[in-house]
Amino acid sequence: MDQKRVLLIIGGGIAAYKSLLLIRLLRGAGMAVTPVLTRAGEEFVTPLSVAALAGHKVHRALFDLGQEAEMGHIELSRSADLIVVAPATADLMAKMAGGQADDLASTLLLATDTPVLLAPAMNVRMWHHAATQRNLATLRGDGIGFVGPNEGEMACGEYGLGRMAEPEEIMAAITARLTGGPLAGRHIIVTSGPTHEPIDPVRYIANRSSGAQGTAIAAALRDLGARVTFVTGPATVPPPDGVQIRRVETAQDMQAAVMAALPADAVVMAAAVADWRVANASDHKMKKAISGLPVLEFAENPDILATLCASAQRPKLVIGFAAETQNVAEYAAQKRLRKGCDWIVANDVSPQTGIMGGGENAVTLITEAGAEDWPRMGKDHVAARLAQRIAQALAAP
Ligand code: C5P
Repeated sequence: MDQKRVLLIIGGGIAAYKSLLLIRLLRGAGMAVTPVLTRAGEEFVTPLSVAALAGHKVHRALFDLGQEAEMGHIELSRSADLIVVAPATADLMAKMAGGQADDLASTLLLATDTPVLLAPAMNVRMWHHAATQRNLATLRGDGIGFVGPNEGEMACGEYGLGRMAEPEEIMAAITARLTGGPLAGRHIIVTSGPTHEPIDPVRYIANRSSGAQGTAIAAALRDLGARVTFVTGPATVPPPDGVQIRRVETAQDMQAAVMAALPADAVVMAAAVADWRVANASDHKMKKAISGLPVLEFAENPDILATLCASAQRPKLVIGFAAETQNVAEYAAQKRLRKGCDWIVANDVSPQTGIMGGGENAVTLITEAGAEDWPRMGKDHVAARLAQRIAQALAAP
């Protein structure tokens, strides 16, 4: 196997000492480490100790004539299989989210087309600050991966979220990304959450989907190495890291986002799409009328799943969901044929099951070969099992 190369950017934080341990773990696993130390990072660990452990000289300055002559910063940014930033400070995250490039680390991060993994480390209040959370959301949406931060005692004496992940955890996240997994090189689109169909600018029609199952599926596919485009309606659970996020409101927006994300090897449509929209939605807030109640007229929404299945760009594997409250397997089998998809993941969403909005799911997988009842399990386990099946199906000729 080719030797894997990691470009490790060490930011300025007390957690930088843990990055020395990370270098040892990386090298112990046979990987090559090219270290970059920010100016603030040098306050916490010395270039000499980093270079000695990495067995490689440390890159420090953007305008270093000697180093630029050997390897320019653009080339450096693309010379690795993965860029890891540990510790990733609030300042570095802000620079990345804003697209700034005023030192070597931020320039490398802006110039690269290599996957990037951040291990944030900062004071708990800095982590929870609205600015950092905004930057986090931006970076996640850009497809940047995260490991940690963890909750615990901090060097500054406070307690909370903001401790850098342990070197072993960062190592596991690096290994998962570098070894590829069975879905490496595959692009999979996942839809998730409810849609909101406006009645007027302040009111809408929605449903109780939390987005939990779709989010878990996107994360499980990512963990097997897939590049995931996550098209999500206004869900209540946060989207996963390390996927391309496309936020939408209505069924029509969702259809446009799915079509724009093609081509793909597979599509998993876990979203609870509204079947109808309000045809006479008002462009101003509807007033309580003395003359009587408003009358809403409905129009049918596009069936995204059926449209995709009938399109020339139909992915090899198309998976739909069926949320039913009775005759689950029978209705789902009919739906599979009607929509023209390959599989249907069917579940019973009767209120007494606690599935819609809950943490568990009991699904029946309907394929051409028939119906398979899976035992009731956590939504993340359903997701992991489904992701494995997807990997097997895509590997088949
Ligand atoms: O017809 P029904 O809504 O029960 O079908 C559910 C499946 O179809 C889900 O996979 C859902 O994401 C998808 N769907 C869709 N577009 C719609 C309605 C449902 O893609 N307008």
